[in-house]
Amino acid sequence: MTSTPNAAPNTDLGNEPVTVIGLGLMGRALAAAFLEAGHPTTVWNRTPGRADELLARGAVLAPSAADALRASPLIVVCLSDAAAVRDALGAHRAELAGRTLVNLTSGTSDEARELSTWTSGDYVDGAIMAIPEVIGRPEAFLLFSGAPKAFERHRDSLGRLGNATFFGEDPGLASLYDVALLGVMWGTLNAFLHGAALLGAAKVDATTFAPFANQWVGSVTGFVSAYADQIDRGAYPAEDATLETHLATMKYLVRESVAAGIDTDWPARIQALAERAINAGHVGSSYAGLIEVFRGRA
Ligand SMILES: NC(=O)c1ccc[n+]([C@@H]2O[C@H](COP(=O)([O-])OP(=O)(O)OC[C@H]3O[C@@H](n4cnc5c(N)ncnc54)[C@H](OP(=O)(O)O)[C@@H]3O)[C@@H](O)[C@H]2O)c1
Repeated sequence: MTSTPNAAPNTDLGNEPVTVIGLGLMGRALAAAFLEAGHPTTVWNRTPGRADELLARGAVLAPSAADALRASPLIVVCLSDAAAVRDALGAHRAELAGRTLVNLTSGTSDEARELSTWTSGDYVDGAIMAIPEVIGRPEAFLLFSGAPKAFERHRDSLGRLGNATFFGEDPGLASLYDVALLGVMWGTLNAFLHGAALLGAAKVDATTFAPFANQWVGSVTGFVSAYADQIDRGAYPAEDATLETHLATMKYLVRESVAAGIDTDWPARIQALAERAINAGHVGSSYAGLIEVFRGRA
């Protein structure tokens, strides 16, 4: 089956019509979730041939990006980056007047703010904290910020994609949360991969290590809540362990890595950060005292 433009969307389903621009891995999942929820869904992608499955499920393929914008009051765009959004929609910006552009493309907070003044309609920026497979399910969560009235108007539709949270009118805030949360993910995954390499050198499989890593990550979530409170109060009493105690144990991680013949970059960085906080006077602080290093004050 090839993607050929078809007739106007069926709007008698009671849900607002939605347009999805960009049918990559994520865009296809977004369009599928709207279809599943009964939204008349118009789609468009730069390269033809990506809409076939969606068309079989009732989507309408617009013959051009301009037609796609004209088809719905809510336009969801999910492309590689902000430059791609400008590329795809730049020539048709006038069509956005009176519509809401929800940009689920990853980018920086400044890019989101620039796009909010670039578009001629209402602008809501969004971040998808999920993989395509879980879009439309409650475990998917999406973060939004930008035009408050436009978000409210389309809240129900956007909620079809997953759990939706709105952070207010700064269009950059969703992107800022996005990179901060991705940093949490990368930090956690790097720690897991390093641990898997260390135990792998002792012939322990990653699948054997994984349940213990997961259990420990669960405990760490408790530390996150306790330290968040300390960070907000600007006081880091060592109610559990001092940074000095942490540092001593970090050195074991470095030594074990050297002994196992694996890369020491990750544990050495962790140790160096703790040493900087201690040199700045946080020897007796809780682990939360490291915030001063990240804030550039130590
Ligand atoms: N995949 C995930 O798990 C995930 C999770 C969270 C957030 N995201 C974000 O979602 C966005 C899309 O990711 P993806 O995984 O769907 O990527 P992808 O599969 O590589 O799809 C990229 C899409 O961008 C389009 N595109 C790129 N440059 C373009 C241009 N100049 N003009 C028009 N269209 C252009 C591509 O069109 P063509 O088909 O014509 O190349 C394609 O539709 C990214 O910002 C990503 O960070 C993805």
